[in-house]
Amino acid sequence: MPVTIYDVAKKAKVSIATVSRVINNSNVVTEKTRQQVEQAIQELNYAPNVIASALTKKSTLTLGLLIPDISNPFFSELARGVEDASNDFGFNIIICNTDYSLEKEATYTNLLRQKSVDGFIISTAYYNDENVINLLKENVPLVLLGRDIEDSRDYPIDVVGSDNVKGGYIATKHLIELGHEKIACLLGPRQIKVNLEREIGYLKALREAKIKVHDEIIAHGDFKLEFGYQKTIEILKGPIKPTAFFAANDLTALGVIKAVKSLGLSVPKDVSVIGYDNTILAEITDPSLTTINQQMRKMGYLATEMLIKRIKRERTPGKKIVLDVDLTVRDSTFKHI
Ligand code: RIB
Repeated sequence: MPVTIYDVAKKAKVSIATVSRVINNSNVVTEKTRQQVEQAIQELNYAPNVIASALTKKSTLTLGLLIPDISNPFFSELARGVEDASNDFGFNIIICNTDYSLEKEATYTNLLRQKSVDGFIISTAYYNDENVINLLKENVPLVLLGRDIEDSRDYPIDVVGSDNVKGGYIATKHLIELGHEKIACLLGPRQIKVNLEREIGYLKALREAKIKVHDEIIAHGDFKLEFGYQKTIEILKGPIKPTAFFAANDLTALGVIKAVKSLGLSVPKDVSVIGYDNTILAEITDPSLTTINQQMRKMGYLATEMLIKRIKRERTPGKKIVLDVDLTVRDSTFKHI
């Protein structure tokens, strides 16, 4: 027979309501009673029934995490931070992969709502993302992680991201300081705000150094290796012939390296490559990848902490946290002679 809350109450010689208060961390219980109940829970090896508690407390202690590409290690690192925080605060997570599709995002959002998750951590949002806007309008607790949407006065938005303008700027400045002037820029989808910001940083560095901007070597793709590969071949066969590439994530940068090598050229002697994220891939690729370091786990942790505070109604106004980024220099960038 499974141990119930009645057994715990009987053993601890208190009422069921008192056991429930201890389980729910209520502060109307004296320290002595709390210890009595905790000891009974331990001795009986009692595990509260999550479904029953969900029915009474209207909480499942479960969070939904939406990511666009589970095969990109950037999102594994974010998820790791989310899991660490969930674990620390007694929550579980359900991870859904959307493949950058707004339809899949809508499907998973509905599914997670049917499962009564307490809140959403969303790393899939496009700039004008109606799925997210609808959730906000319905007062569903959520936090945007590494993504942002258009601001609105109608609802508070919680966001944890990093300084993308600075990232684009210091990446490009690093290449300029190595003597490069023709620097290609391979971004992710236009509808995702981080790309707009990384491009602003790239253009700022070029303008500051009075370097001509060539629109022909700026391209938007899908943040995938294949895009980096195909676009690099196309650009290197074109008229401008850049000596360096700034890729807006590590996966795209890996595609750039593959393409440069496939044309019989060397990274970094003929073409320098810089990525973005500082995932594990940056360390193990050959040559190792110079990249912009994002504090991925910290982003995931902070976003989850922020969401849980909102779920518990410990805070209401929208809050934006922007984490710093820095440059990690490895072997894929070299001076232009
Ligand atoms: O969606 C992929 C990318 O978005 C990541 O690699 C990271 O740069 C994030 O902002």
